[in-house]
Amino acid sequence: MNLLDVTELRVEFATPEGRVVAVNDLTFGLAAGETLGIVGESGSGKSQTAFAIMGLLAKNGRTAGQIRYQGRELLGLPTRELNKIRAEDIAMIFQDPMTSLNPYMKVGEQLMEVLMLHKGMGKAGAFVESVRMLEAVKIPEARNRMNRYPHEFSGGMRQRVMIAMALLCRPKLLIADEPTTALDVTVQAQIMSLLQELKTEFNTAIILITHDLGVVAGSCDKVLVMYAGRTMEYGPVRDIFYRPSHPYTEGLLKAIPRLDGEAAELPTIAGNPPNLLRLPPGCPFQQRCDQVQSRCRQQAPALIPFGDGRRRACFRELEVSHV
Ligand SMILES: Nc1ncnc2c1ncn2[C@@H]1O[C@H](COP(=O)(O)OP(=O)(O)OP(=O)(O)O)[C@@H](O)[C@H]1O
Ligand SMILES: [Mg+2]
Repeated sequence: MNLLDVTELRVEFATPEGRVVAVNDLTFGLAAGETLGIVGESGSGKSQTAFAIMGLLAKNGRTAGQIRYQGRELLGLPTRELNKIRAEDIAMIFQDPMTSLNPYMKVGEQLMEVLMLHKGMGKAGAFVESVRMLEAVKIPEARNRMNRYPHEFSGGMRQRVMIAMALLCRPKLLIADEPTTALDVTVQAQIMSLLQELKTEFNTAIILITHDLGVVAGSCDKVLVMYAGRTMEYGPVRDIFYRPSHPYTEGLLKAIPRLDGEAAELPTIAGNPPNLLRLPPGCPFQQRCDQVQSRCRQQAPALIPFGDGRRRACFRELEVSHV
């Protein structure tokens, strides 16, 4: 049994201008210790997928479909039971670290509170464990830093505190929403290798959300490429990188900066993601696709399984190397 099974997940928002479908028919599974990358441009529905799993959608949001955690349906679960799972089993690192750290409380107190509240630890035990976790995320002089406030940490260090906080209760599933976006490239790399180490040490399954396909290369087992709330392509990370089957994935790949490349400007995908209130007919990507066919403008391609555990939504012929 998978740790997490998301089936035909749909997230809708009621807005004054109409209904917005932010996540549309999303299906994926995650085994214990596995890492899934969810990749797509801004507005593709990555964060709302995470919020739906955490039960943290905005008030005007509605979910349909199934989210099974260890075989148990999370959608519609009473808040008390959901809170327990959220506190003990599933943790999330948010896009903006300041949203989940209290600026008026010392970092050490915040960490200890989690352990005292959810693990019933005493003060002394919680202190020792908090220092240990800060050390695990490689915060120098961890013991002294317990007495500091969040604003006294640099961006990279604050992100580490967030990771420490998320891992305190030893979650089986960690959802990291753009954990490195605000950081410079070197710190980004450090945080990513840290997540890798922690995954090995604690056997945590990870959903890594990012707009940068480059970030998933070294860290994910599988990748889900999203566009306008839908799956464009899904499969093992190697296939996504070396044998992409969707023009959108190819566009994202071309936009990855290469270390050996010249300083030439990177080709980005022309245009912008569509307004969800005014989606084009047919494939949501058709207006920006450099390989668009006439039927793409009339009909949305279904998500079809192919190869070894892959899926894609595209009318373009598969190449021999894909099958
Ligand atoms: N409360 C809301 N009401 C209406 N629409 C919403 C609401 N919250 C999110 N949306 C819309 O849902 C869509 C998906 O948003 P989401 O936050 O999942 O994007 P994302 O892929 O995480 O993008 P980013 O990379 O910018 O974080 C967006 O078009 C957004 O405007
Ligand atoms: Mg987001």
